[in-house]
Amino acid sequence: MHIDILTLFPQMFQVPFSIGIFKRAIDRKLVRVNIHNIRDYTHDKHHIVDDYAYGGGAGMLLKPEPIFEAVESIKSDIYLEQGADELPIILLTPQGRLFSQQIAHELSKYSHLILICGHYEGVDERVHEHLVTDKISIGDYVLSGGELAAMVVVDAVVRLLPGVLGSEASVLNDSHATGLLEYSQYTRPAVYRGWSVPEVLLSGNHAQIAKWRREQAIQRTLERRPELLDKANLSLEGRQLAERLSLRGK
Ligand code: 6GU
Repeated sequence: MHIDILTLFPQMFQVPFSIGIFKRAIDRKLVRVNIHNIRDYTHDKHHIVDDYAYGGGAGMLLKPEPIFEAVESIKSDIYLEQGADELPIILLTPQGRLFSQQIAHELSKYSHLILICGHYEGVDERVHEHLVTDKISIGDYVLSGGELAAMVVVDAVVRLLPGVLGSEASVLNDSHATGLLEYSQYTRPAVYRGWSVPEVLLSGNHAQIAKWRREQAIQRTLERRPELLDKANLSLEGRQLAERLSLRGK
């Protein structure tokens, strides 16, 4: 996968992409990330990227020209590179659709993504209307720019790409992958400050362990994020268990 990110603050991406899973994925050429400074696509002496809003009001807006030109420049390189299939051009904005594991999966299917980090009080509406194909928000709160949101999206997408994580199974069990929160996990020691690891996990009985984990996942989802259960893809058995636990809690 190839990811282009347009930002006013390229430095913000240096550390996250140079450590851990990202670094490994980049080194192994599973993903290529190019960071573009929007300012480099201005033509005036002062490299101005923002301006006042027509009609007045506080704050500055990102101007359309450098953003359009940056995207067009990236696109023209891609077309040379490959026949480029569908190319999502995603604006990170609090006005976008709410990011989720499902959207991460959706984006992980593309061979190329362009992410645009919004800033200041916003971005000229013509970018929304005539350039971007998708808008994503990472939650109902306000960040000072789209950079952190872009990192969240890229992190969630890249870890889904084949070969990025050590074991494929670990992605399948993640919280939210199944629509449920993940079950509780324990490592050694078996007893810490008098707190024991549940007996069943030490039993070596894999069927029992799998059953216990399924039940755990349902129970904690019910306790912590009950609204997720309605949408979760549960077996009949799981659905019945959720019913029983939910009645018990009342
Ligand atoms: Cl994508 N951008 C900004 N500025 N704030 C946000 C956001 C994005 N998602 C949630 N809050």
